Amino acid sequence: MVHGKRNDMIVHQQEPYNAEPPRAALADRALTPLDAFYSRNHGPIPHIDQETWRVRVEGLVEHQLQLSLAQLRETFEQQTLVATLQCAGNRRTGLLEIRDIPGEAPWGATATSTAEWTGIRLSDVLGAAGLEPTAGHVEFVGPDIARDAKPPQPYGSSIPVHKASSGEVLLAWAMNGEPLPAVHGGPVRVVVPGYIGARSVKWVQRVTVLEQPSDNYFQAVAYRLPPVDADPAAGGPGQGRSLASVTLNSEILTPDDGELLPAGRSRVTGYAIAPDGDSVARVEVSVDEGRTWHQAGIQAPPSAWAWCHWQTALELAPGDVQIVARARSNAGDTQPESAEALWNPKGYMNNSWARVQVTVRDAEESSS
Ligand code: MTE
Repeated sequence: MVHGKRNDMIVHQQEPYNAEPPRAALADRALTPLDAFYSRNHGPIPHIDQETWRVRVEGLVEHQLQLSLAQLRETFEQQTLVATLQCAGNRRTGLLEIRDIPGEAPWGATATSTAEWTGIRLSDVLGAAGLEPTAGHVEFVGPDIARDAKPPQPYGSSIPVHKASSGEVLLAWAMNGEPLPAVHGGPVRVVVPGYIGARSVKWVQRVTVLEQPSDNYFQAVAYRLPPVDADPAAGGPGQGRSLASVTLNSEILTPDDGELLPAGRSRVTGYAIAPDGDSVARVEVSVDEGRTWHQAGIQAPPSAWAWCHWQTALELAPGDVQIVARARSNAGDTQPESAEALWNPKGYMNNSWARVQVTVRDAEESSS
């Protein structure tokens, strides 16, 4: 098992390791087993001894801190919460159908996973350090050198102080009750619930309070969308809007794309996720290109920062059938029908309607 992952992971890159599970591995489970949790890495996975690991807290603080894992555990109250991580490149395949995106992995439906994270609140650590009045953003930096950055540099990111102080952002050392695996940032990573996965810095070694967002490549240049008034094909890196919250989205988990199904009633399941602060109000499924919709049943999400699973049963007639799903949020937002207007040069944030193509055979045909 490479990096503790199941053998049927869809591996986009072996080095650095980038992999997502088959759709069915995420179905019907509020928490994703560690061996199926997607992993996104920009550099080599460091193997850090938890005894020697330290995190420095510095910048616009009254007292600089340097803390070991034992000190984090002893000094601060332990906190556990469930949060979904979603890569900004999740569902990029839908954008690749519109136009090529050179140099970026073709992530499918499952660069999204959910765990129960245990650690301490970042806000408690910032409280102990004391924020200066000019504090505006909190930067996290890991030790892994990302060669895809220009110039190559340690992976880093930042979040605004209001999010960092919210109490839901963790420095986490456990995942689903297990010590955090190296591939997911062990011994300690940041978990920023509600934000794109890129902000949850793994193997965090430096927390720096700044006035402005981090100038690390992954904050200042990558993980951005072009300005809304720009031609997406012409916009340069570093322009536009830095990505923070995830967007309203959904995917179909069963049946799989390309699956062969017997005619009759078929169970259709999936996940849906809402932007930070919103919730999923409704999920609808169609088998006639969106002319009519069936409302799916939604399971209560395991937390305010997690996906929800949904399911329905549909009558499928023989032939080639496209199953389509879309979510609506409590704020009244819906997913756009097409990926066309969402295309951007790095292929982030595709939240167009989810689609899988299945072939339905009548019972006699499938048993022959
Ligand atoms: N942190 C470090 N140090 N290095 C990285 O390459 N990748 C980021 C984030 N944190 C990354 C990182 C991205 S883009 C994502 S989507 C998540 O980690 C993925 O977390 P996972 O591998 O635990 O699923």
